Amino acid sequence: NKPVTILSLQALRLANEKITMLTCYDASFAALMDRCGIETMLIGDSLGMVCQGHDSTLPVRVADIAYHTASVARGNHTALLVADMPFGSYATAETAYANATVLMQAGAHMVKLEGGAWLTETVSFLTERGIPVCAHLGLTPQSVHQLGGYKVQGKSTESADQLKRDAMALQAAGASMLVLEAIPALLGKETTELLAIPTIGIGAGPDCSGQVLVMHDMLGAFPGRKARFVKNFLDGQGSIEGAVQAYITSVKDGSFPGPEHCF
Ligand code: KIV
Ligand code: NA
Repeated sequence: NKPVTILSLQALRLANEKITMLTCYDASFAALMDRCGIETMLIGDSLGMVCQGHDSTLPVRVADIAYHTASVARGNHTALLVADMPFGSYATAETAYANATVLMQAGAHMVKLEGGAWLTETVSFLTERGIPVCAHLGLTPQSVHQLGGYKVQGKSTESADQLKRDAMALQAAGASMLVLEAIPALLGKETTELLAIPTIGIGAGPDCSGQVLVMHDMLGAFPGRKARFVKNFLDGQGSIEGAVQAYITSVKDGSFPGPEHCF
């Protein structure tokens, strides 16, 4: 298989073929997901919760993401690897560039940042210097204390309009992908239709260009609270490979997420 690039992701979007993403943190799971044909893997700062046992993503450091990114890169051949910029690593364009460089040198093909229009200068700074950027709007877990908890975002007309303006600004600044987390399905659809870059939803409805889940959640391996948008794909499957295949099939044929996973 040919390596997935930002161009092939754009081609999938234009062909109306759903893009598949799972989080991944180590070489063995990377090799397994790659064999299954997953298009993108996210080395998410969710590793702070599912691997390190913290109760938020805030304690995660750049070195943690770099370590897991290097591990995933050694197991992966084809998927496009997106590495999360952790809390506190992109407050200014210059610090973002220095930290993104560490992640790209560890094997990432793209970095992901949480936040709206305030990030446009940083997104331009990175993309002008050859670092592709995925933006992340809606429920942004690094802002959990500012948001007052892990809550669905974009429910009011004002906040929905704000999210759409942020999405347009991030796209104009050079973002090549956008994660939408925990927003009403209708807002996920409208934002996706507004943009010319792929959207990847998690609790953002079935009409995003693609879907992402945390690996531990879709295998039923996370002991914490289960969000509405999570589905255990190991149920009814005999193997982890079967679960990943079932996830890919369900995203591709549009059966996941179902109404019970949406807001
Ligand atoms: O860290 C993560 O796993 C994420 C996804 C939930 C989008 O950011
Ligand atoms: Na994240």
